[in-house]
Amino acid sequence: MTVTEAIMERRTIRGFTDKEVPEDLIREIIDIARHSPSNCNTQPWHIAIVSGEAKEQLKEDLVSLILSGAKSNADWNRGDNGFTDIYKERQYDCAFRYYDSMNVSREDKMARKELFLENWKFFGAPHAAFISLPKTMNEINSIDIGIFLQSIIMLFTERGIACCPQGALANFPDPVRRIADIPEENGIIVGISFGYEDVGAQINSAKMPRATLDEIASFTR
Ligand SMILES: Cc1cc2nc3c(=O)[nH]c(=O)nc-3n(C[C@H](O)[C@H](O)[C@H](O)COP(=O)(O)O)c2cc1C
Repeated sequence: MTVTEAIMERRTIRGFTDKEVPEDLIREIIDIARHSPSNCNTQPWHIAIVSGEAKEQLKEDLVSLILSGAKSNADWNRGDNGFTDIYKERQYDCAFRYYDSMNVSREDKMARKELFLENWKFFGAPHAAFISLPKTMNEINSIDIGIFLQSIIMLFTERGIACCPQGALANFPDPVRRIADIPEENGIIVGISFGYEDVGAQINSAKMPRATLDEIASFTR
């Protein structure tokens, strides 16, 4: 598989089989991804993988915390997401495509909430990973995290492993810290649920469009 094929064929997957990814394979992938570039070679990333009973316990803890009405206390103060105009339109388009793919109507708040809650059930994936970086760092270092995340996603794609990157997994760090092994000085910035795709699962049917080249690039001489 070429890099071009990996980029063009990858999609976010939210329906998984129970089959676990062998730990040796997960280690191999992270061992390659650690060669990603970073600002001043700081390599600020840490990735904590949670599987098996620990993952089941974490799912229960997160879901009961959220159902109790807890508010997000993310390590990184994300505040308002800053989506305006076309970005807000894309956000809504993304959500509606997702709901439509699951036959959930836009008015059905209960069903939408249940679908949203799937984030913290890791969409049924056998593994969840949490990526963190030192809380002393700033947004330039979050670029490093994005590059590291994409390396992991590309390596997964090359090996037939499906995943869903999830900002949502950074929202409730306390239960995650109690179960996952995360450096104390770090803040969780993003998570990834991963495993093998449940091919044909309805939840995997949504396809997300992209803006055209001319909308996102300019060329000046
Ligand atoms: C940093 C990041 C955070 C994301 N957070 C979530 C999330 O919390 N929940 C979710 O279901 N999908 C999440 N996604 C997946 C996006 O919705 C998805 O990448 C986008 O809609 C484009 O679809 P595609 O990946 O299938 O091309 C996230 C993706 C990225 C890169």
